[in-house]
Order: sequence, then structure tokens, then C-alpha cells
Amino acid sequence: MAAAQKFSALQVMQDASVIPVIVLNDVAHAVPMARALVAGGIRMLEVTLRTPVALACIEAIAKAVPEAVVGAGTVRTKADAQAAANAGALFAVSPGYTSAVGQACRDAGMSLLPGVATGGEIMMAQEEGFTELKFFPAMQAGGPAMLKAWSGPFFDVKFCPTGGVTLQNAPEFLALPNVVCVGGSWLVPADAMAAGDWARITQLAQDTASLKKA
Ligand code: 3PG
Repeated sequence: MAAAQKFSALQVMQDASVIPVIVLNDVAHAVPMARALVAGGIRMLEVTLRTPVALACIEAIAKAVPEAVVGAGTVRTKADAQAAANAGALFAVSPGYTSAVGQACRDAGMSLLPGVATGGEIMMAQEEGFTELKFFPAMQAGGPAMLKAWSGPFFDVKFCPTGGVTLQNAPEFLALPNVVCVGGSWLVPADAMAAGDWARITQLAQDTASLKKA
């Protein structure tokens, strides 16, 4: 089998305006959910390691949906990073930054979008070579105003704000020069998933086409 194509964190961020933050409770939902998002124009998929089936879901998507680029979210430890890479994740997203997670992702050949919420965390991630970061939890930690303040000292850092972002407030984030994309769970509502309403998920993905970088 050909080696999977590698994607840098910046490429993951630039592919679409939104990275969906996905929580899967049933392996049977993984493939139809991924196909529904791809049909709606979104192929970078962050499957969070928050449920017992998350790794199996990543594996299922990696095998059955080649048009999708599946990544692992909620990567908090070296073991998480290794397990995600073994399952076929092509990128990782973490809620915060530690050197251990940074190194584990490097060792696994997997790009990492590390989460930050303070200047000190940005400095630590940057010092270790990460300049594309997730701002989490974005709304709770200061929203667009925080990103504007960071654009001064951290002029060379690009962000993906995630946490409390919606179709309605996403344009305010995307208008900022230091924001490349946003992340959010609104594309994959738990009720749509439970009902197998894949058409709704495709529609929610299509609705984000109106969100463009300023
Ligand atoms: C998360 O990790 O839960 C994400 O930040 C998603 O947040 P949201 O549910 O507010 O989009």
C-alpha cells in the first residue's frame, strides 16, 4: 500500500475554513459521517480521543474513506499520539501543549496542531518549533480580542480558534490576519449522528462554504 500523504499543520488548517471536532460513540457512524462531511466539502476531520471507540473510528475512516484526511483530537499524552498514528491518523490536535506530546508526534511523523490559551504556552510551543496553534477554548479564553492582542508579540504565529465557535461568530475570527481557520463541533451534532441523519451533516458542512478568509 502506498504511504499516506503527509500534511503539515498549515496544510490541515488551509484546506477549509472549518476543522470539524468530532465525537463518535459508535464505530458504525464513523464512515458514513466522514463521507457526509467530504460530500459537503470538508475532508480534514478531527476525531477526538474521548470515547472508547475513537481509535477504531479513526482506523475505519482511514481505511474506507480515502478522500478524507483523518486526524486525532484530544491528544494529551505520548501514548495517545502513538495510538493515533498507529490507527492511521495523519495529524494530531491537542487541547494544550507539552514537550512530550510534541516529540511523540514528531517521532510518529504526524503533524501537530497544539492548543494554547496563554502567552507562556505559545512561547513554549514556538520554542519547540510549532508556529501553527489552536487557540482553545477560544470564546472562553478571550475570543477575537485575545487574538488581536496576540498579533503584536506573536506576529509570526497562526491560529485555529476552537471552543465556542459557531457559524455565526466564525466570520469575526476568520477576518483576523492571524487566523487561518476555525474548529468546531457544530458540524457534527450528537443528535444528527445518533439518528444517522447524514444529509444534515452534509448540509452543515456545505453551509460553511460561505465562510471565507477575509
Ligand atoms: C472541543 O474540543 O470540544 C472543541 O473545542 C469544540 O468546542 P465546541 O463544541 O464549542 O465547538
